[in-house]
Amino acid sequence: MRKRYLQLEKATQIRKKLAQFIDEKSFAFPKYDTLARLLCGKYKLSEQQASDLFAIYSAISSVRSLKLSERRNLFFVRKKRTDHLLHLVESEQLTKIEIEKYINYGLRLKCYLTKSNDNYAKRMKLKKLLADKIIFNLFIERSSRTHRSFDAAAKMLGASVINEKDPTAISLMSRNESFADSIRTFCQYSDLLILRAPWPYVIEEAIEAQKKLQNIIPVINAGSGSNQHPTQGLLDVMTIKEVLKIKSFDELKKKRVVIIGTRFKRALRSFIITLYAVCPEIEFVIIAPPGESSLKNITKRLNFDSLDITISNSISKSVRGALVIYLASIESKPTSNYQKTLKLKEKNLKFADKRCIILHPLPRNSEMNYNIGRMPSNQIWTQVKNGLYIRAILLIDCFGRLKKIEKILRKI
Ligand code: CP
Repeated sequence: MRKRYLQLEKATQIRKKLAQFIDEKSFAFPKYDTLARLLCGKYKLSEQQASDLFAIYSAISSVRSLKLSERRNLFFVRKKRTDHLLHLVESEQLTKIEIEKYINYGLRLKCYLTKSNDNYAKRMKLKKLLADKIIFNLFIERSSRTHRSFDAAAKMLGASVINEKDPTAISLMSRNESFADSIRTFCQYSDLLILRAPWPYVIEEAIEAQKKLQNIIPVINAGSGSNQHPTQGLLDVMTIKEVLKIKSFDELKKKRVVIIGTRFKRALRSFIITLYAVCPEIEFVIIAPPGESSLKNITKRLNFDSLDITISNSISKSVRGALVIYLASIESKPTSNYQKTLKLKEKNLKFADKRCIILHPLPRNSEMNYNIGRMPSNQIWTQVKNGLYIRAILLIDCFGRLKKIEKILRKI
């Protein structure tokens, strides 16, 4: 078992290395010879495996070098009267209109299921929506919320679900089958793939792997390495809209959103990108210890022209007037004293906006003190619940069936 997990670690390491080439070399992927030496020499891949990986990563780098508007076109099915989602790859692909559309549908679905009576009849109507579909949940990295909420959402809509979360149980890890071949296989048995893996650009990799197949199935990003978690960004912004009773995102103009932590990974990045897309005039303040390296990476890659982002190391000053406080994880090494200095305490909230809400993508450690967890401003369980609704709406849209749910929701 341990040996197989080591294989997963090795695969992750290789892909992270390849992803670095895409990021750091301005999308210009190196020549095959250079990479072949690395892949066959250092990582001991066979020539076939090295050439497969090379082909896929050079294709990804050519997609990444496209302008955002051109990339967006690849991720939506364009029809005469409606557009619908083909793949959910990255938070940047979603425009303000699309984000608002998904959030509004998510809130209406929540209202439909939580309000009043005859829940059995309502649920039976939803169960018909995707009753003809099979959804493949492939999670080769741990997850409690994203995996279970996609599973629950698919079942709520009547779809059948194949859940795969043990990488050692599939040939991908245990029999050295390539990732591309594993994807090509799973696509034969399902109508949509939900994917989480510990390396960046895994979604692009899964899309690229399908290219020569007859049927391409949608792929949804459920967390790719440290760089993207688009469904998390959507559920975070949905929670802000719901709890703060926002009618138009313009109400957030000039409002302060404070982010506290040391581990600035995919959830945070997708949160900032999604919130920025609906209201570019938000003031972001990030509180982190000086020299935080993952923070530097995050801000470097968030290269929006007008993004107003300040870095600070004082919680008490920065939360003054804050409308949203987003807690990222804090490095939990026993030697670290960040746990104390970055912990949110009740007294910090005194000067925040009266309506201030606290969010956290979870799992949490000691980012907030116990009493804050019990305050009404703590909205982390609303986030967790909203994940179910937003993910259900995304599944429906991937099959071009928003009109069908519109008919159901219109009746309440
Ligand atoms: N927020 C989040 O992605 O949680 P999981 O890792 O449990 O899915």
